[in-house]
Amino acid sequence: MINDVIQFEINGHAHTVSAERALETLLDCLRSDSRLTGTKEGCRSGECGACMVLMDTNDGWKAVNSCMQALGQTHGHRVVTIEGIADSVDAPLHPAQHAVINCRAAQCGFCTPGMVMALACAHQSGQALEPIAVDVRAALSGNLCRCTGYRPLLEAAEQLRASECSPPGSKASGPAMTGYRLHAGDVKFFAPVQLDELLALRMENPQARLLAGGTDLMAQWNAGGIRPSQLISTRNVM
Ligand code: FES
Ligand code: FES
Repeated sequence: MINDVIQFEINGHAHTVSAERALETLLDCLRSDSRLTGTKEGCRSGECGACMVLMDTNDGWKAVNSCMQALGQTHGHRVVTIEGIADSVDAPLHPAQHAVINCRAAQCGFCTPGMVMALACAHQSGQALEPIAVDVRAALSGNLCRCTGYRPLLEAAEQLRASECSPPGSKASGPAMTGYRLHAGDVKFFAPVQLDELLALRMENPQARLLAGGTDLMAQWNAGGIRPSQLISTRNVM
């Protein structure tokens, strides 16, 4: 299927952009299109976690750095930002936000939205909050704080462990993905879902670069470096 538009969901609302924007970052889209400026721009190279959001994947909800996500990879997915992490208007703060406040785990606050997303994701996945000495540190290993220090954040994680919560997206089933191609100007953007489909695309387009987490390609793209004309995203391959 060849698409002229990229359609995805932000905090429960449908969002559509032109396929020509396939290589723009999700971070820029959130901040400029949707004015969701709680998602911060720090390093723009996948190092600091300030831009972290939740995204549904074949493997469940993941905390991802939105500066490393090409918009072309978001087609068909759901994204939750710090503005949408709370359950409802009756509960305007997520338990991870309460824990950060209670433990005074923020100072300037620049890293805080990303920290909250990492804590909330780890808590809902049930992977990270026990034992605290090892796994919480792993859950926060992609998030840098330059002023508060990490002890209050570990205390917040400990407090969160005692509460029951889940990000809003976990209530619905994951994406039912089909393969797609985007008309992205001079760029060919492929997103297969089957491995044999991916291998066939690779054979047909030997110059194509593989795009997975984006930590290499998107970092270079953001820095104005590499400009591949053919891309194959591995995001949806099962
Ligand atoms: Fe630092 Fe995205 S802005 S990881
Ligand atoms: Fe300032 Fe973390 S609270 S960078």
